Amino acid sequence: MPFSCPLCHAPLSRREKSFVCPQRHQFDLAKEGYVNLLPVQHKRSRDPGDSAEMMNARRAFLDAGHYQPLRDMITDILQVRLSTQATAVLDIGCGEGYYTQAFADIAQQHGAQTLGLDVSKAAIRAAAKRYPQVMFCVASSHRLPFEDCSIDGLIRIYAPCKAEELVRVVKPEGVVITVAPGPRHLMELKGLIYDDVQLHPENSGEIAGFNVEEKQSLAYEMALSGPEAIALLQMTPFAWRAKPEVWEKLTATDEFRCQTDFSIHCLQRES
Ligand SMILES: C[S@@+](CC[C@H](N)C(=O)[O-])C[C@H]1O[C@@H](n2cnc3c(N)ncnc32)[C@H](O)[C@@H]1O
Ligand SMILES: [Zn+2]
Repeated sequence: MPFSCPLCHAPLSRREKSFVCPQRHQFDLAKEGYVNLLPVQHKRSRDPGDSAEMMNARRAFLDAGHYQPLRDMITDILQVRLSTQATAVLDIGCGEGYYTQAFADIAQQHGAQTLGLDVSKAAIRAAAKRYPQVMFCVASSHRLPFEDCSIDGLIRIYAPCKAEELVRVVKPEGVVITVAPGPRHLMELKGLIYDDVQLHPENSGEIAGFNVEEKQSLAYEMALSGPEAIALLQMTPFAWRAKPEVWEKLTATDEFRCQTDFSIHCLQRES
């Protein structure tokens, strides 16, 4: 396991139910099987990341299959690009693990292990409970608790990150796959909230230290039931701005049509 100690950065070794470093900093496994590598002094708030409510909404929405075309596209890219010698795949900002599990199916074929990281404890707890094949940790993507050059494939779907940390942990010639919103992503949902809907700015996908190998976009229309549209709103930052009329309108709707537009980049670490 390529974990490193969040306090002294030395490698962590697995003991029965914990991870320990040579300086005896110890991190116990939770009963769900994940490890919390986010020391209190590195927390920016008491309960950082997505709340349990957002996580539940995201799980309900993803379970309904609306983002399955996206998951299929990323797993196809990973299948082709992941080195046959790979030992570790990492999903940062993995949320409740919907995509992470699909990456684990591929990593397993290569004999590699899969790791999922998120700053939200509620999300990691739910992820670890449902997907025991993946090793999940609570940590921030701004300080990745992994050894230098230890990751062969890193996936980042709508999650924050720090370029220096990606360069540090990804092996030379390792791959990074990123997903960001394309210009028209969730336009109709935004239209309910803003008078003047701005298109999302195009994302170049560039990260210092990596070469962009592949750019793709994926766009399709979803037909959502009222409860599914509510779940979509709850899992986005737009929820904070939505007035009561918006919630009422979506609750009463039979079908809400909404566009997706994803911008996917595959990068390779310079050797
Ligand atoms: C929009 S969600 C995407 C979740 C998942 N990748 C998906 O698409 O279903 C963003 C995720 O990033 C997590 N997050 C936010 N800030 C983070 C940070 N500094 N480090 C790690 N994860 C973070 C949130 O808790 C949330 O689960
Ligand atoms: Zn330590």
